[in-house]
Amino acid sequence: MELRDTIVNRRSIRKFKDRQISKEKIEELLKLAMWAPSGMNRQNWYFVVVKGEKRKDLINVSQKAFDRFIAISLKKVFKDRKTVIKESERFFNTLGNAPAVICAYRTKTVEGELTDIQSVAAVIENLLLLLYEAGLGGCWMTGPVHLENAINELLGVKDMMLQALIPIGVPDISPISPKRKEGRLKWIGWD
Ligand SMILES: Cc1cc2nc3c(=O)[nH]c(=O)nc-3n(C[C@H](O)[C@H](O)[C@H](O)COP(=O)(O)O)c2cc1C
Repeated sequence: MELRDTIVNRRSIRKFKDRQISKEKIEELLKLAMWAPSGMNRQNWYFVVVKGEKRKDLINVSQKAFDRFIAISLKKVFKDRKTVIKESERFFNTLGNAPAVICAYRTKTVEGELTDIQSVAAVIENLLLLLYEAGLGGCWMTGPVHLENAINELLGVKDMMLQALIPIGVPDISPISPKRKEGRLKWIGWD
């Protein structure tokens, strides 16, 4: 698959088939994704890959995050689009029945938070592209991070900052592509 097709056709997947992904496959893709660039080459990323009972606990926290934080902002942004709100609620309440959830963490470096976050984000995008290329899918979620402390406690994580949850699995939907917005480029010194 051409890289450009992968970039264009990757979509956020919020519903998964009842099929497992092997530990070896997830490890292979995460190790490839970690070839991302990082500020001062700190490679300040860590991933906790969750399945089984703890995955159910994560879903509980995700439900709470929706009720306490996400519902309010969705109602403001998508006032006239009730199906978007319903669909989002379903996703937070189930994590799309993903067989595994990847929790992306960062540690602090001397470069500061702006750099630290971007380094981890580069790995997450790599991972989403690799998942798509492998016939799999995932969704980058920061919503549940509102309840970071609860998630860290249930995973036994200390001294790291939670950046995102990424439920992954075999896609059970093919979402349509959101249109690209115009006017995002400015050219200086090209005339
Ligand atoms: C930083 C970031 C945070 C996101 N958080 C959430 C989230 O909490 N819940 C969710 O359903 N989607 C989340 N998304 C996915 C976006 O909604 C999605 O990328 C966007 O709607 C465009 O759709 P596409 O990924 O299919 O192109 C997030 C994406 C990014 C990059």
